[in-house]
Amino acid sequence: MSVRKPFIAGNWKMNLTVAEAIDLIRALRSRRSEDKDVDVLVAPPFTSLLAVRQEAAGARIFLGAQNMHWELKGAFTGEISARMLKDVGCTHVILGHSERRNLFGEKDDAIDLKVKSAVLLGLIPIVCVGERLEEREAGNTFEVVRKQLEGSLRNFLADQKIPATTILAYEPVWAIGTGKTATPEQAQEVHRFIREWLAERFDKPTADEVRILYGGSVTPSNIKDIMKGPDVDGALVGGASLKAETFLPIIDFAAP
Ligand code: PGA
Repeated sequence: MSVRKPFIAGNWKMNLTVAEAIDLIRALRSRRSEDKDVDVLVAPPFTSLLAVRQEAAGARIFLGAQNMHWELKGAFTGEISARMLKDVGCTHVILGHSERRNLFGEKDDAIDLKVKSAVLLGLIPIVCVGERLEEREAGNTFEVVRKQLEGSLRNFLADQKIPATTILAYEPVWAIGTGKTATPEQAQEVHRFIREWLAERFDKPTADEVRILYGGSVTPSNIKDIMKGPDVDGALVGGASLKAETFLPIIDFAAP
């Protein structure tokens, strides 16, 4: 049986002002069940990170960023570094989200550099992979996911080790923000593939420890089924993480 603790992450994307972010954290703090053994993270926009850290102090909520640059400082207008994220209190950073890949042209090489920089600074990367609809329909899901893993985790592969704290997220692009969730079987089959890849390219004990999240239209009504997959360790939640009414039941359903 898996000993991996469930992990529920809310990716707020480009939503919420500072005041709205504080309200949401207050609601999560006051209404969250005490007895659930589940790790919870929120990834607000950069502008709310500090306020969320202050509001969430002592509330068992990890703080993540949604992206970063791989350099630690310098002339990179508009960018934010791992050093700055650490400074503001982040513990995690989402890297290689499909919106970064598909809307902003991020390639595996860049994601690999970001993963390396994040780990160097002591941030836990949440590395996202997932196929597009046409790739799934062409029967290329595993191949696409394998290529993204190999490209985005090249640095770990070169070292022949991956920190067991690393979090991977399988997010089929066709399920993100579309209301079309992967079936629990579709999610589990890709999660198993990822875990087998980890065991093959690193080692089995680490593969057994790394948490793999599912993302793509997760809601309070489908989280329970999605979590049934033995290799599904949690969820990366977009839309439903923006309201306490929908995020709290997801957190509660994720843990028995
Ligand atoms: P969604 O987004 O839950 O709104 O589909 C998930 C994600 O992009 O992480």
